[in-house]
Amino acid sequence: MDLTKRFEGRTALITGAGSGIGAATARRLAAEGARVLVTDVDEESARTVAADLPNATAHRLDVTDRQSVDEVIGGLPALHVLVNNAFVPFVDDPDDNWRRQLHGTLLGAVHCSRAALPHLAATGGAVVTIGSVNAEADFGDHAYSAAKAALGSYTRTLAGEAAPHGVRVNQINPGTIATPSWAGREQALAALGARAYPLGRVGTPDDIAAAVAFLASPDAAWITGTTLRVDGGLMAVNRHFREILDEAEAEDA
Ligand SMILES: NC(=O)c1ccc[n+]([C@@H]2O[C@H](COP(=O)([O-])OP(=O)(O)OC[C@H]3O[C@@H](n4cnc5c(N)ncnc54)[C@H](O)[C@@H]3O)[C@@H](O)[C@H]2O)c1
Repeated sequence: MDLTKRFEGRTALITGAGSGIGAATARRLAAEGARVLVTDVDEESARTVAADLPNATAHRLDVTDRQSVDEVIGGLPALHVLVNNAFVPFVDDPDDNWRRQLHGTLLGAVHCSRAALPHLAATGGAVVTIGSVNAEADFGDHAYSAAKAALGSYTRTLAGEAAPHGVRVNQINPGTIATPSWAGREQALAALGARAYPLGRVGTPDDIAAAVAFLASPDAAWITGTTLRVDGGLMAVNRHFREILDEAEAEDA
């Protein structure tokens, strides 16, 4: 196998691919030979991303619209890889925010996965869902954390249902990634990179795209139902604890 062309002859559909991690994933899978369906609720951004890729088409796809998901995904001739990536922005009203996160972040991925499953069963394909470290600890928004945590559970239960059909289902929980969703907060990203992240920087969309490509590829042929943290060591190393301890021990000394 040519390791640089792991997706030759395969078709990949990415949701929310008009920006950030989704766009980087589209570029990565295309570079490895995939025919990429660049989908986004914002069709213009999907077109812009697809225009730069060798073998890609752009499609408007709102993951919250069950009927449209069934039409677009169900109507495909074949599919080998589904990447559930769309990011539903936060809103101030708490009730509305809960509804949007549960409907968009959680049910959006459920709709797309269910629509894709028959195709993936026919091709021996794979699902990769983008979660977040927010699924595992408190970094702010309750609804987003709950929806992302529920996605982890869905990844495991869907993996069980899909495994007999030769379909693998995995999730990636990224730490902070410098994407347009952080626009205007460059100082915050720099401070987080320097002080919160053991590897000294926040992540790039390409860091996540590389992990998606791995989990979607035959290199991960015996991996299913797992959640891979891609977070520069954030969750494994408690920088805050160390800083408090060092400071307190200096005072004790
Ligand atoms: N950036 C981070 O720090 C970070 C950290 C952890 C996890 N994530 C996750 O990574 C994924 C991508 O985030 P990003 O930072 O690249 O976001 P982004 O804002 O750069 O891009 C998200 C895309 O999703 C699209 N979108 C919004 N609602 C949609 C809908 N209903 N249907 C289809 N598309 C829709 C937007 O139009 C946009 O193009 C998300 O699942 C997010 O939760 C991001």
